Amino acid sequence: MIELKGVNKVYKTGDVETWALKDISFKVNDGEFISIMGPSGSGKSTLMHIIGALDTPTSGEYLLDGKDVSKMADDELADIRNDKIGFVFQQFNLLPRITVFRNVMLPLIYAGTPKEAREESARKALISAALPENWWTHHSNQLSGGQMQRVAIARALVNNPTIILADEPTGNLDSKTGEIVLGTFQKLHEQGRTIVLITHELYVAEHAERIIHIVDGQVKSDSKSHPRRKISMKDYKD
Ligand SMILES: Nc1ncnc2c1ncn2[C@@H]1O[C@H](COP(=O)(O)OP(=O)(O)OP(=O)(O)O)[C@@H](O)[C@H]1O
Ligand SMILES: [Mg+2]
Repeated sequence: MIELKGVNKVYKTGDVETWALKDISFKVNDGEFISIMGPSGSGKSTLMHIIGALDTPTSGEYLLDGKDVSKMADDELADIRNDKIGFVFQQFNLLPRITVFRNVMLPLIYAGTPKEAREESARKALISAALPENWWTHHSNQLSGGQMQRVAIARALVNNPTIILADEPTGNLDSKTGEIVLGTFQKLHEQGRTIVLITHELYVAEHAERIIHIVDGQVKSDSKSHPRRKISMKDYKD
C-alpha cells in the first residue's frame, strides 16, 4: 500500500523556493487503479518521483507497505525500484544507440535474468504496449515520440512490477494508439496490479477508478471516477 501523510516538497534554486507539493495526504490500496490529474506545473511528476522512491519529501511521511521510504537503506531502495515498481517517465529515458528490444530488456539484464527468459519477457511487454514487431530492431533514436512512448511502457512492464507509475503515458499518442495503451493499463489492473496514471486530461484520467486532482501542489479533490461517462476534449477546461 502507498500512503502519503502531510507530504511537502520544496525545491530550492539559489534564493528561490518552489513549493511543488503542499500537505499531500492520501492512500492507495494494493490493486487500485488511480489517476493523478492536474495542470502543467501542479506537481504531478514531483509526486510520481516520491511515490516511486526516486526522491524524498522535504517534510511529511511516505510509507510503502507500512515502511518509511526516507529511512530505507540504499540496497532496499534499489530492490524496490528494480522489482516492485515499473516507471514510465515523461521524458522516456531510453538509450538512443541500442535497439528497442535491448532497451526493453535492460532492467532484466541488470537483474541478471537468463537470456531466453528476458527475451520472452521483452517480447510480451512490447506486444502489451502495442508496438509493431518491425520496430523492435530499430535504434530508439530512430523512432517517433509515440513509438518511443510505447517502448518506455514496454520497459516499465518487463520486470512484472506490482506497481506501475506512468507519467503522461498517452501524451504523444494519437487517440487510437492512446486507447490501446489505456486498454493495456486496464488489463494490468485486472491482473491485480496497482496503477498510478498521471495526466492533465480528464478523458484519460477517467480510465481509472479514482481521480486525485491536484492544483498548485495541493489535493483539490479525491473521488471515484465515472468511467462510463463519455466526455469529449472540448467539454473539459483546466
Ligand atoms: N528539480 C527542480 N528544481 C526546481 N524546481 C522544480 C524542479 N522540478 C520541478 N520543479 C518545479 O516544481 C513545480 C512542479 O513541477 P512538476 O514537474 O512536478 O509539475 P507537473 O505537474 O509534472 O507539470 P507538467 O504537466 O508540465 O509535467 C513546478 O513549478 C516546477 O517548476
Ligand atoms: Mg510532469
